[in-house]
Amino acid sequence: MSDVKVLVLLGSLRKESVNRQLAELATEVAPEGVTLELFDRLGELPFYNEDEDGDDVAEPVRALRAVAADADATLVVTPEYNGSIPGVLKNAIDWLSRPFGNSALKDKPAVVIGSSLGQYGGVWAHDETRKSFGVAGPAVIEDVKLSIPSATFDGKHPRENSEVAGSVREAIEKLVAEVG
Ligand SMILES: Cc1cc2nc3c(=O)[nH]c(=O)nc-3n(C[C@H](O)[C@H](O)[C@H](O)COP(=O)(O)O)c2cc1C
Repeated sequence: MSDVKVLVLLGSLRKESVNRQLAELATEVAPEGVTLELFDRLGELPFYNEDEDGDDVAEPVRALRAVAADADATLVVTPEYNGSIPGVLKNAIDWLSRPFGNSALKDKPAVVIGSSLGQYGGVWAHDETRKSFGVAGPAVIEDVKLSIPSATFDGKHPRENSEVAGSVREAIEKLVAEVG
């Protein structure tokens, strides 16, 4: 596999985010020829408004759709907020779901991983992200599941956990294997 571009969407805006660290790890363990690009501007997107969607849409939305159009696949890395998808990520999914039926990520493979404080590692958020993102257009790979309780990291960067590093690499390998 060569020259595969993976868009990374991060569901946390927090500077010290564990999920940001997981995304860093993903970049480090990605197979050769696979480039991960984090779109780090989800906090700049306005709330989705159908009245404002069109040719004159806000610049951050245009930027998001442009990197999405250029990507071959998407890796979502997110925590769980109140048993569900963080609003900032859901908002990005809504922008990415349009134009309806012809979105920039339509039919491109996607996987969802992440970490949360709770004992199930954010599995509700990950399940709901798979559902919502799948409705939005991407071909979400349902059987790649990685929801890591943040206690696993023992306060260290996830890269220091070889089992986690292996699981993240495996998730990326399964993702790029689906790129057409
Ligand atoms: C508003 C809010 C809601 C949260 N809800 C949940 C939750 O439902 N389940 C859970 O496991 N952790 C929950 N947490 C804890 C997060 O999992 C924890 O803060 C995590 O580290 C956030 O990810 P980050 O480090 O990438 O920012 C919540 C945190 C916040 C701030």
